[in-house]
Amino acid sequence: MSEVDFRSPSPESYLRFPKDFLWGVSTAAHQVEGDNSNQWSDWELAGRIKSGDSCGKACDWWENAERDFDIARDLGIKALRLSLEWSRIEPEEGSFDPAALQRYRQMLEALHQRGIEPIVCLHHFTHPRWFEQRGAFLRPDAPELFERFTREVAKAVGDLCRFWVTYNEPNVYAACGYVLGEFPPGRKGQLLKALRVNRIQARAHVRAYRAIHALVPEAKVGWAQHYVVFEAVPGMANRWVASLLDRLFNHTFFDLIETGRLGFPFGLLNGRDNEVKGCCDFVGLNVYGRFHVAFDLRSARTFFANVFVPEHVPQGDPGVDRPYGEAYPRAISEAVQRAAGLGKPIYIMENGVPDAEDQIRPWLIVNVMRELHALIAQGYDIRGYLHWTLTDNFEWNEGWKLRFGLVALDPETQQRTMRSSAKLFSEIVRGNGVAIPMDEPCLPLSTTLP
Ligand code: BGC
Repeated sequence: MSEVDFRSPSPESYLRFPKDFLWGVSTAAHQVEGDNSNQWSDWELAGRIKSGDSCGKACDWWENAERDFDIARDLGIKALRLSLEWSRIEPEEGSFDPAALQRYRQMLEALHQRGIEPIVCLHHFTHPRWFEQRGAFLRPDAPELFERFTREVAKAVGDLCRFWVTYNEPNVYAACGYVLGEFPPGRKGQLLKALRVNRIQARAHVRAYRAIHALVPEAKVGWAQHYVVFEAVPGMANRWVASLLDRLFNHTFFDLIETGRLGFPFGLLNGRDNEVKGCCDFVGLNVYGRFHVAFDLRSARTFFANVFVPEHVPQGDPGVDRPYGEAYPRAISEAVQRAAGLGKPIYIMENGVPDAEDQIRPWLIVNVMRELHALIAQGYDIRGYLHWTLTDNFEWNEGWKLRFGLVALDPETQQRTMRSSAKLFSEIVRGNGVAIPMDEPCLPLSTTLP
């Protein structure tokens, strides 16, 4: 572990983080750029956004990302994760758009000029229509196509970027697209297809990893894994289904990267991909919280698990037709312990809560910091924390219903308003630590402990 100053004497109520801890925010192209033309634009045109909203100009980043970069600089933020939209860069198969690559160069330069380290993600749920139409990551040649795209990007902006995330949440992409039918292509109950998608993505990850390293030798390349705690209500059947969901959702992609094969029993059907094994320079973790799980014969689509959020637990705003999830800071510990098995540095690449009125976000941030600080003190190699997100953005099939920003956005007027969490996060970043309120247990007033 790097040399740290967090053990040095400090007031008991102040938790200091290691020197050079990377404090930042995360974003995604489709959610912030506006006017994209990809498979999610088709999903929206087909009326699949549950709130009925349209993405429109989103946060207007394609025209003016610099406005939000100024805000990030003013908050003292040191790193910003953004994704580069494949459909802009390669709108037709095999033909790359120099103007789009130039705009991304401009954005990355703008971040550097503001003293902000860019972290580039290559696939955050969206890709070109032509790629979707030919079967996306179900097709065996997808790794070649992803590698070709990656190479063009690394050639164009490799000098401006040290940190690379190949995929954002391959587990969410596969589960929502092929099992739950909530994301394009909207398939339901196709578990074997979802596993195949992840295996092909793992191969594509390796090819992208190598392509980036060939062009940018000092690059650090990883992926961002979504991790959810599945908490079983008491009872054996409940524990069994919770652990099944945990294995399928949390561990599939970890297993692939760690061992080169799917976990038992699926690994028996397919061989090991030796090239995949251990292929990453860091592990990114996206951690939001916890779901509760009970065995339920009526819930066939979710493997006979009723996945729910009890009313009394801390949580942010609900989605269009269901709660978003329990805001559960301890989820970070579980995720970090799982990721540590890979023996690579860990970055929290996303964490946040939908909370338009900022009622619970400050509590979440402070308590996540406590978890992180304790984990680092125990020796876990956690190098950074990126909050989701800077400015409210277009929340996939929930549209504008869920607001995750440190900064509130009115998408009509593009007016931005600081939430109090922005001030809190800025203090944490500037102080490289967090003041812990003395009035424990630090839960939101409206919340009672279970
Ligand atoms: C995704 C983001 C999303 C956030 C909040 C993450 O799983 O990567 O794109 O906005 O969760 O739901």
